[in-house]
Amino acid sequence: MARPRILVVDDERLIRWTLRERLEEAGYAVLEAGTGTEALALAEEGADLVLLDFKLPDLDGLNVLRQIRDRHPEMIVILITALATVENAVEAMKRGAWHYLNKPIDLDELLLLVGKALETTRLRREVKSLKAKESAGYSFDRIIGESPAMRAAKELLRKIALSPASTVLLVGESGTGKDLAAKVIHYESARADGVFQNITCSALPESLLESELFGHERGAFTDAKQQKPGLLEQADGGTVFLDEIGEMTSALQAKLLRFLEEKTFRRVGGTADLQVDVRVVAATNRNLEEHVRSERFREDLYYRLRVLPVTLPPLRERTGDVAVLASHFVAQYAREFRKGVWGLTADAIRRLEAYGWPGNVRELKNAVERAVLLAEGERLLPEDFLLGGAGGGAADAFRLPPAGVDLEELERDLVVQALRRTGGNQTQAARLLHLNRDQIRYRVEKFGLEKLEPSGH
Ligand SMILES: Nc1ncnc2c1ncn2[C@@H]1O[C@H](COP(=O)(O)OP(=O)(O)OP(=O)(O)O)[C@@H](O)[C@H]1O
Ligand SMILES: [Mg+2]
Repeated sequence: MARPRILVVDDERLIRWTLRERLEEAGYAVLEAGTGTEALALAEEGADLVLLDFKLPDLDGLNVLRQIRDRHPEMIVILITALATVENAVEAMKRGAWHYLNKPIDLDELLLLVGKALETTRLRREVKSLKAKESAGYSFDRIIGESPAMRAAKELLRKIALSPASTVLLVGESGTGKDLAAKVIHYESARADGVFQNITCSALPESLLESELFGHERGAFTDAKQQKPGLLEQADGGTVFLDEIGEMTSALQAKLLRFLEEKTFRRVGGTADLQVDVRVVAATNRNLEEHVRSERFREDLYYRLRVLPVTLPPLRERTGDVAVLASHFVAQYAREFRKGVWGLTADAIRRLEAYGWPGNVRELKNAVERAVLLAEGERLLPEDFLLGGAGGGAADAFRLPPAGVDLEELERDLVVQALRRTGGNQTQAARLLHLNRDQIRYRVEKFGLEKLEPSGH
């Protein structure tokens, strides 16, 4: 903050003079007002803090307080009163005074209070500007794509963001933009000032996930030394993003359903029903309908979530978006890496359009990143791109044998292969498998691969 400005309002000149001396000495800029009317006029010019005498010649101090708070909610007001009654103090706080001081004023106490108050303002401003920066990245135009399917999805997202809808389901293959869509729904909604909380259901074992989500009371389980509010409470007024909802266990699914339907929940080990105002955005890259059929996902929860589904189509079904997305990412990475790459040749675009993109937009983004990094010319050529096999998606490489496979075992085997190939580097292994960090960590734990030898058996 530049030199903080303090507005001193008191009808006694001597008091104003004393306060000015002391405050200026402490490094503040001081404005003086002798009446309520003057105070209101000066407040218009801006101040960080107001020291307001309760008894003024023209207006009632509480009245001035209310007007200042109405017009300048950011200004902190400390009320100064000679009639130190509890009623006055209570009334002052109710009308938004930050604190009050008794006359005669103890100058040391005053300076201490002023320092604290200004620190509060500074922090508030910092949080506000951080929030603004955070949300600036997640407007609707961050979602690139002009294909009819994407236009429809964007239109739906816009409607949902602006609506009071409390539950949304995002469906789409890995890398189609579910994370991005969830953030846009939050930051383009009336909840943008609230918190966006994000949890990956597959990343935690059931009991931990439950206490993360719903919180727990002290002593609810061995490690619960303190009471802890869950994400739902922390996000009151905001949004909770439940990623990989398809992996949630059925006991938790039941609790989530109760929350979605009745808007109430209990902390783990708690008996009180708590209420919060939270929008739940759930996402899955699974076919939930199939999960319902095989009884891995509760039908009632599925129908509750399905009230507002948004499907993000795979990239191979909207080839028209490949060129727009690629150009967008080229510009982004050229800026980031300070390289003079201006676009793609027509051949390069044709090659990208012919490819199947099993990892969808994420894969395209990564491919462009690599190409821009290594590019020598001003336009990217077909050979600048390293794509995972000609035209084929994962399904072409793995044909289901007539006898079927043990999917779990196959999964474990692929995770092991990926870890071996990358020398145990989970981040790189995750990339090979098109997983995110939480997803690979979950699988490493599930299959007990923490101590995997880097190579051999
Ligand atoms: N339409 C789009 N426009 C611009 N960027 C996009 C778009 N879709 C996805 N992306 C970008 O692609 C990357 C992957 O997207 P995201 O993480 O949202 O996918 P996801 O659907 O959540 O995948 P997963 O199921 O693996 O979690 C992100 O960097 C995201 O910003
Ligand atoms: Mg995601």
